[in-house]
Amino acid sequence: MAKVFISELVLRDGHQSLIATRMRTDDMLPICAKLDAIGFWSLEAWGGATFDACVRFLKEDPWQRLAKLRKALPNSRIQMLLRGQNLLGYRHYSDDVVRAFVQKSADNGVDVFRIFDAMNDMRNLKTSIAAVKKAGKHAEGAISYTTSPAHDIAHFVDLAKELEAMGCDTIAVKDMAGLLTPQSTHDLVKALRSAVSLPIHLHSHATSGLSAMCFLKGIEAGATLVDTCNSSFGEGASHPSTESIVAALKGTEYDTGLDLGALQEITAYFRDVRKKYWQFESDFTGVDTRVLVNQVPGGMISNLSNQLKEQGALNRMDEVLAEIPRVREDLGFPPLVTPTSQIVGTQAVLNVMTGARYKSITNEVKNYFLGRYGQSPAPVNESVKKLAVNDGEAITCRPADLLEPEMAKLTSEAERFAKSDEDVLTYAMFPDIGKTYLQERNAGSLVPEVLLSKESVNSAAPRFAPNEFKVTLHGETFHINLTGSGHSGEEKRPYYVSVDGIAEEVFVETLSEIEVSSGAASSGSKKKAATAKSGRPRPAHAGHVTTSMPGTIVAVMTKVGEKVNAGDAVLVIEAMKMENEIQAATSGIVVAIHVTKGDAVNPDESLLEIQPE
Ligand code: CO
Repeated sequence: MAKVFISELVLRDGHQSLIATRMRTDDMLPICAKLDAIGFWSLEAWGGATFDACVRFLKEDPWQRLAKLRKALPNSRIQMLLRGQNLLGYRHYSDDVVRAFVQKSADNGVDVFRIFDAMNDMRNLKTSIAAVKKAGKHAEGAISYTTSPAHDIAHFVDLAKELEAMGCDTIAVKDMAGLLTPQSTHDLVKALRSAVSLPIHLHSHATSGLSAMCFLKGIEAGATLVDTCNSSFGEGASHPSTESIVAALKGTEYDTGLDLGALQEITAYFRDVRKKYWQFESDFTGVDTRVLVNQVPGGMISNLSNQLKEQGALNRMDEVLAEIPRVREDLGFPPLVTPTSQIVGTQAVLNVMTGARYKSITNEVKNYFLGRYGQSPAPVNESVKKLAVNDGEAITCRPADLLEPEMAKLTSEAERFAKSDEDVLTYAMFPDIGKTYLQERNAGSLVPEVLLSKESVNSAAPRFAPNEFKVTLHGETFHINLTGSGHSGEEKRPYYVSVDGIAEEVFVETLSEIEVSSGAASSGSKKKAATAKSGRPRPAHAGHVTTSMPGTIVAVMTKVGEKVNAGDAVLVIEAMKMENEIQAATSGIVVAIHVTKGDAVNPDESLLEIQPE
């Protein structure tokens, strides 16, 4: 009998870690019969990012993906990752939504629910664990692994005992950043095994190059379940390769009993599939040891570098990486995983970009200090808390205890576009993009994002570059006239264009270039435009309210003619999935508002104008 069991991650964490969660259901189904025949302990196939990517980019119904996989994998346990009271979203939901979501997930095919909380506040897992047990499914309680002065083995053992007491069937150690070392894995598993009677399941990203060694030491210490990913989507920011672990354990007392030959057919299939998604390939497909120094998970580094790139501030990455541990300490050392990774990361970017720590504080950080995410692992920095919430009293109860039931309200809000309970839950998880998705689905106008073919991109270098043309992006058409450019050879070359008659300066980072035989201007064959068309004025004086990060307007909190005081919140923007209030820098009368809810905005624009007193 096999002593070690394998959970295969290729349908969820593998492509989430390496190709930005873009694998489509159509690329999963043809291989399901072979996956189903292997005899994995479970196949992880669903979670927050897969749900989000389905709705946001692939225009697939995530519930239908689940139902199709259920049908295609009749002999396998399907596993999902659930963020406790956050479910698959970014806020705490009321208990009735949690129960409905778990029940519907079980109905549509999930067998194993791995449930975690970013704060390791076990109260945030209580309702979902109970709902999973009620649905007759397997509840796996997860400990978010991290290192800090507040995190030692005794602390993790306490968490495991709580999970056992809450009725979990197995316990996962979720090492999302790849911080475990072989010896720390051994010591942790040994301590957990002697404290609780449940099987221990290891999940460790291969980012730092240690995870396969960690598994062996963990298995020797008594772990019986490990998460691996088919080698076609293994290693790097993903996980130890399934085939390697199977081979390593073969013939030992821990033999998984899985057939290496049969696994090869799956590998060959997914190797081909991966080629289709080359445009989404992560920069972190190899070993990246930075996490061992700065504790910042690889996924978070790539998010931050995209964010900084958009602002033309990639050169400030080192400052942000130095700021993250300081913000984390101020917040009482939360593990860095969704949503705390975004909360800490965005605040660190703000602290660096605004030139003063906590000059601007996101709503999420304020809510964090008010206890709305749960109990922090260590005490928070009281002076930063005072800056954020003044004398606001933090709650000490379970955050969801303060939430009224909201399923009925969500159902009535979604009445006009939701056709099922699943639709209502999609809307509940993602109120903006979920609603848009459902409306477009009903209208038959869903358009999945385009997969570029490598050949067409490489051979598409034009011999003739147009200097006047129309571009249609996301349903909006822009008339573009190229009127001039900077010099070839500049790292970021300015192009002067008119977009629908409005003059814009666009900085183009040239990646490759051809000489064109005709036309007034030369053009890069692959270029990235850095500024958006907007028509908004450039900020000229202190009364012009601007944003320090690109984002989307969530709320306009004032109107023309209203008097505001310096420091008043006038706008709320969402950047990096975090909401951030923008304050008036000066007192006066609002004379113009250049944005409405839903607008994409950039730092070089005036969003709102105040006539100073
Ligand atoms: Co993971």
